[in-house]
Amino acid sequence: MNNNLKVIILAAGQGTRMKSKVPKVLHKVLDKTMLDYVIDASLKAGAKDICCVVGHKSMLVKKMIGDRVKYALQKEQLGTGHAVKQAEDFIGDEGSVMVLCGDTPLVKAETIEKIASYHAECGNGATVVSFVKDEPFGYGRIIRDENGGFLKIVEQKDGSESELAVKEVNSGVYVFEAKALKKALSELNCGNAQGEYYLTDVPELIVKDGGKAGVFTADDEMEFLGVNSKLDLSVVTKALVKRINEKHMLNGVTITNPENTYIGQDVVIEADTLILPGTVLEGKTSIGTDCVIGPNTQIVSSEIKDGVNIKMSVLMNCRVDNYTTVGPFAYLRPGANVGEHVRIGDFVEIKNSNIDDGTKVSHLTYVGDSDVGKNVNFGCGTVTANYDGVNKYRTTINDNAFIGCNTNLVAPVTVGEGAVTAAGSTINKDVPAHALSIARKRQVNIDDWTDKK
Ligand code: UD1
Ligand code: CA
Repeated sequence: MNNNLKVIILAAGQGTRMKSKVPKVLHKVLDKTMLDYVIDASLKAGAKDICCVVGHKSMLVKKMIGDRVKYALQKEQLGTGHAVKQAEDFIGDEGSVMVLCGDTPLVKAETIEKIASYHAECGNGATVVSFVKDEPFGYGRIIRDENGGFLKIVEQKDGSESELAVKEVNSGVYVFEAKALKKALSELNCGNAQGEYYLTDVPELIVKDGGKAGVFTADDEMEFLGVNSKLDLSVVTKALVKRINEKHMLNGVTITNPENTYIGQDVVIEADTLILPGTVLEGKTSIGTDCVIGPNTQIVSSEIKDGVNIKMSVLMNCRVDNYTTVGPFAYLRPGANVGEHVRIGDFVEIKNSNIDDGTKVSHLTYVGDSDVGKNVNFGCGTVTANYDGVNKYRTTINDNAFIGCNTNLVAPVTVGEGAVTAAGSTINKDVPAHALSIARKRQVNIDDWTDKK
C-alpha cells in the first residue's frame, strides 16, 4: 500500500472509434464502466487522492462516476500533456503522481502498487511503464541508450524507420515527481506530427533538467490494453470474465461453463456453490455456500445466503435467506426480503415486501408492498392490489394464514393469524385471526339450461 500516492486518470477523449454517443470511458465491461475499474484499482492500491481529467461530455462522466474522485476539466483535447496540465492544482508541489488512462480497465491494483514502489526505490523523477509488443503499431516506442537507459518516447506518427522497429512500447502509465512534472508541463510544445502537447515528451524534459527517468517493464500487456473500439471492448470483456471466473473456481466455486457465466468484479461467492450456464451476477452481490444458481439467472446487488436454489430468475436489490428456492421464472424486485425455507415458485413477482420463514408463494402471484408472516400459503394467482393509481398501500398477512387461489388483497388490508380466504375472494376489509373470509358471489346453478337452449 502506498498511502501517499496521487493518481490522475485521463478521461477527456471522445473515443471516436467507439462510434457511440456515449463517451469512451463510460462504456461498460460487464457491470461497471471502464473508468470505474481504473478508479477501483487505484483505490485498492491505496491511492489517497484521484483526479479524473474530463472533457468530452464531462457532465455525463461526472454524473456517472460521482464524487469519489476529483475532476479537472480539459475543454479542448489538445493532447495527453495538455490533459495532465489541466490538473496542475491537483498535482501540487510535493510527492509523486501516477498517470493512468481511463480506457485500460484491466490494470490491476497489485501492478499499480509495484509501479509506485519501483518509482520510489529508484528515486526517479519520471518512471515510464512499458511492455513488449510483437505488433507495436500505434503505440509510442521506448528508445533506450546504448546502456539500456531511458532516452525518450517516440510516437508512431513521428518515428523514423529504425525507431518504429522497436517493440518495447509505452503503456501510457507513468509516475512523476510533482515538481519536476509541473516544470516539464510548462515547457511542452506541440511541434510534432499531430500538433499536440504530448505527455510522452515529459520524461525526456525531466532528464534534461537534471532528473532521472527510468522504465518499468510490465509483463502482462493485457493490463494496458487501451480500448478504442467495440471490438477491443469484447476482447477486454473476455479477458476479464476469464480472470474473475478463474479466481472463483480456485476459491472452490463450481462454474459449469465459465465462458458463458458473467460475474462482476465485486461479487462475492462462497465455496461449494454451483453456478450453472447463462448466469449473470452483478453489482455488490454476495452468495453463500451450497447454493445452486442458474441456469439463465440474473442477480443484481443482492444478498443470497446459504443453500439457496435460484433457477431461471431475475433478482434485483433483494435478500434471500438460507435454504429458500426461487423460480423457475420468478422476479424478485428491489426490497424483496425473503426468509429461510421459503418457496418462491414460477411466475411470481415480489416487490418491496418481507416474506417470513417457511412461507410458500408457489405460482402466478404478485406480492408488492407487503409484510407476510411465517408459514403462510399463497394459492395460485394471488394479487396484492397495492396501488390505487395515486398512492401505494401495504398488505399485512400474519403467520399461518392461508390465501385461497385467485384472491385479490386490496391494500391497505390485514389478514389475521391463521385466517383463510376463500378462492376467488376480493378482500378489502381486514380478516380477523382464525376466520374464514369469503368475498365472492354465491354460485347459482340453473338446471337443464343447455337442454332448453
Ligand atoms: C498514448 C501515448 C502513447 C502510448 C499510448 C498507450 C501520447 C502522446 N501517446 O497514445 O505513447 O503508447 O497512449 O495507450 O500520450 N486524452 C485526454 N485528452 C487529450 C488526449 C487524450 O484526456 O487531449 C486521454 C484519452 O481519453 C485516453 C488517453 O488520454 O484515455 C490516451 O489518449 P489516446 O489519444 O488514446 O493516446 P494514444 O494515441 O493511444
Ligand atoms: Ca489509446
